[in-house]
Amino acid sequence: MAASEKIKQEVLELRRQIEHHNRLYHSLDTPEIPDADYDALLHRLETLETAHDLATPDSPTQRVGSEPLAQFSQVNHEIAMLSLDKVFGEQDLRDFETRIKKRLSDDLQLQYSCEPKVDGVAVSLLYQGGMLIRAATRGDGISGEDITHNVRTIKSIPLRLPALSDDTRIEVRGEIFLGKKGFQRLNARAEKEGTKVFVNPRNTAAGAIRQLDSRNTAKIPLQLYCYSVGIVEGLELPDSLSDIFDTLEKWGLPVNPERSTESGIAGCLNYCVKLLNKRSSLEYEIDGAVIKVNDIDTQRQLGQNAKSPRWTMAYKFPAEEKSTRVLGVEFQVGRTGTITPVARLDPVFVGGVTVSNTTLHNMDEIGRLGLRVGDTVIVRRAGDVIPKVVKVISPEKNHRAKTIKLPPACPACGSVIEKDGDVLVRCSAGITCPAQRKESIKHFASRSAMDIEGLGDKLVEQLVDAGMIESVADIYKLSSGQIAGLERMGEKSAGNLIMAIEKSKQTSLPRFLFALGVREVGEATGAALANHYGDLPPIIAADSESLEQVADIGPVVARHIDTFFANEVNLTLIGELQKSGIRWPPVEIAARNQPLQGQTYVLTGTLQEMPRTVAKTRLQALGAKVAGTVSKNTDVVVTGPGAGSKLGKAEELGIKILNEGEFLDLLDTLSKQGRTRAD
Ligand code: IVH
Repeated sequence: MAASEKIKQEVLELRRQIEHHNRLYHSLDTPEIPDADYDALLHRLETLETAHDLATPDSPTQRVGSEPLAQFSQVNHEIAMLSLDKVFGEQDLRDFETRIKKRLSDDLQLQYSCEPKVDGVAVSLLYQGGMLIRAATRGDGISGEDITHNVRTIKSIPLRLPALSDDTRIEVRGEIFLGKKGFQRLNARAEKEGTKVFVNPRNTAAGAIRQLDSRNTAKIPLQLYCYSVGIVEGLELPDSLSDIFDTLEKWGLPVNPERSTESGIAGCLNYCVKLLNKRSSLEYEIDGAVIKVNDIDTQRQLGQNAKSPRWTMAYKFPAEEKSTRVLGVEFQVGRTGTITPVARLDPVFVGGVTVSNTTLHNMDEIGRLGLRVGDTVIVRRAGDVIPKVVKVISPEKNHRAKTIKLPPACPACGSVIEKDGDVLVRCSAGITCPAQRKESIKHFASRSAMDIEGLGDKLVEQLVDAGMIESVADIYKLSSGQIAGLERMGEKSAGNLIMAIEKSKQTSLPRFLFALGVREVGEATGAALANHYGDLPPIIAADSESLEQVADIGPVVARHIDTFFANEVNLTLIGELQKSGIRWPPVEIAARNQPLQGQTYVLTGTLQEMPRTVAKTRLQALGAKVAGTVSKNTDVVVTGPGAGSKLGKAEELGIKILNEGEFLDLLDTLSKQGRTRAD
């Protein structure tokens, strides 16, 4: 039936009202009407749209999710989505302003827009003629995935911005996140239904936004705060960020209510302190504040470096702390036999995850903490760092509180426990201990080692327990029939695993060396060995003295490597692995690409993307010398947050300075050149 003008008007009014309530409920957490009234409005709208054929893509009735996609399509960002540089302290933030003034003018009075750094997932929303036509993930900043179908289910994101005219095109960027309450509700339901609980709000949001089936996304109460704009065409925006935020808000887009405009770094620091005090009472997880130069023209003048704009900085908050009770202490046997006490905790939500157990490192640490089972302790966790028991705050009053003692024998195999140095204790059984065997197989299959996708910790446990594998060489003897017979595995997953095992055979020498699990040989040392010797046989043949010539290898590590390759069992294992088809391209020492030969580098501050040892090894592999102090012989200084006097000295001497982004780009370019040349 054709709709009368009156009905069309009612439909428009219903949509307006529903979107208004969506925003109050899902974004501002201040509902004005009971749920039943909201449902009635939505129901009335649905009825009218169906009866009069009035449904449009921007109607709130179209937010429920639709048929699953076969795959995501790629979206190229017309303007790259950059990331943020970060600082951890007051001085670093002051340095940030000093650098800005140095670039522009010393007597600038800067205004900053300050906002919480919400812990979620970055998204780009494209509105054309006021209609939401595309939403995309950040991806690598250059291209991301099209997630329009999922974003449409987020009720606080307008499907239409009525204030915008037909010829406009605007890209709004922001953070999609899951609030604390939403997260708890989801987990309470998962627990009740016996389904998998979610680790933390951030991961849940990231998973929800990358669903092929948007009906799954619609079940997660995601939210958004907008924090910047990308493309702007056909309209003029205000000339300061704070005014842009007000404009976005007027259009109906959610913008963080905690945002504030501050004068100078003093104002920003004041903001950070206030925000930190508020942190636990906010309804969502934050991991810091973002400080942005408010004036858009000044932003433009400052521009950007390789990875991030020069006009903004993330100020990361310190680790979060919570108190909880120690329910017990268990002893775990690691890959090399070390026996580590692990505290079982009354689960506590700290630093964005639920922590239910954490390492206590060794018996000395337990002594230092004065810890006994039943004590209430402070647990600290920052970012992705493992949680730590900081101190006992109230000892268990009950006299039954137990002192924690080292077990008399290996808890996994009953073998004798040996002391190794002052604090470490070890199971003496070596690879015959089932716990050590399991751990070394898990390590071998892990992402940075042989990278066997699908062979995770649980599956390794199952395979060892079922007697199907005893050593890493047995992995390559598995058949898909055997795997398919295991609990929770089907033919398809068995087939995938066999393919992943096959794929892992084509590896690199550094990975293989790391995978072997030689004590103290991490990724960096694996790479250093490969670069120095070029292939496995000379490494096997090398004695401690020769090994000590390799960058970053000292006498202790050299001895571990020497002992490992002197052991017949290990050599047989390596032979078996090579026989099963594991191979790597040799690293050609003679033709090795050493473009930085003759140059001296100094590293200062904390690098975010790689440990300093890795940076050092990579530089050395490219031929550079890495020195500890800046002098007139220094060619380049690489700086991370926290860089202090070395940076000052470098500036004084007029030495070339690279920030981490620029440094990573350099490594990237040089290693690409190296590859082309080798090909
Ligand atoms: S501005 C080029 N503002 O943090 C600057 N980012 O670590 C673009 N984030 O990828 C980012 N809250 O996903 C900005 N208020 C905020 C933010 C924020 C969270 C995220 C964002 C970014 C990441 C960088």
